[in-house]
Amino acid sequence: MVTVRAPATSANLGSGFDTFGLALDRPADVVRVSKAERTTIEVTGAGARYIPEDPKRNTVGAVAEALDAPAHIHIDKGVRPASGLGSSAASAAAAAVALDELYDRGHTREELVPIAAEGEAAASGDAHADNVAPALLGGFTVVTDDGVTRVSPDLSLVACLPDIVVSTRDARKVVPESASMADLVETVGNASTLAVGMCRDDPTLVGRGMDDPLVTPARADLITGSGTVREAALDAGATGVTVSGAGPTMLAVCRPGTRRSVAAAMVDAFDEVGVDATAFQTGVG
Ligand code: HSE
Repeated sequence: MVTVRAPATSANLGSGFDTFGLALDRPADVVRVSKAERTTIEVTGAGARYIPEDPKRNTVGAVAEALDAPAHIHIDKGVRPASGLGSSAASAAAAAVALDELYDRGHTREELVPIAAEGEAAASGDAHADNVAPALLGGFTVVTDDGVTRVSPDLSLVACLPDIVVSTRDARKVVPESASMADLVETVGNASTLAVGMCRDDPTLVGRGMDDPLVTPARADLITGSGTVREAALDAGATGVTVSGAGPTMLAVCRPGTRRSVAAAMVDAFDEVGVDATAFQTGVG
């Protein structure tokens, strides 16, 4: 039997749509695998009742098939599905590492990225790797067609998860199909600022670099109170706030010593608009 933990992740970070990803040190999924004639899946934990246990419809079923590694797979969910925190990616990443070890396949973590991304395709219809890459490798990752680059920044973060469900499929439908040159130039500038900030452990540059004129505004309407929450977090000490992944989690980068007040301000702001929320005070995983 092999047991592997994989963390929640935050994709996009505003300006890096489908490219940037960040591993969080909490919450996390834990996947336990043991060899079997055919793959069976059991799911417990946060939001378990919404997750199919049929291997053909579950993220980890696709991973087991890709690795030719039939197993009984138990997934203990710490990352709620449809949260914007890479729930399916955490399960896929943990299963890829666990099954690879169980069957001695000998893949590196980098080689497991496209395999775990196949699991993502089963969940969302798109094999994007911006959540599975940080879930497998840790730190801040940049995913392109040519591979993954990463650094391990030290940042103080709050991931505030409201009691709202936003499906990735729906959130991808509102993404604009084209962009003006002005918005493109602004996005490149912000993404570059953010990447420099990650290399320097600089929350001010990272927060500033999360601004995004294209995707985040298009998705804000799907999250009740997102504007109010963003303002409250900035007032409490955040340097930047954005939608985590496809939402509804809002991710804040915090100045040192402000994480607790940012978390409280975000929960209160959601409460003002009648939405319950949970704030994870976290760092980079
Ligand atoms: N980059 C993806 C999106 C992450 O924002 O749609 C969600 O899986």
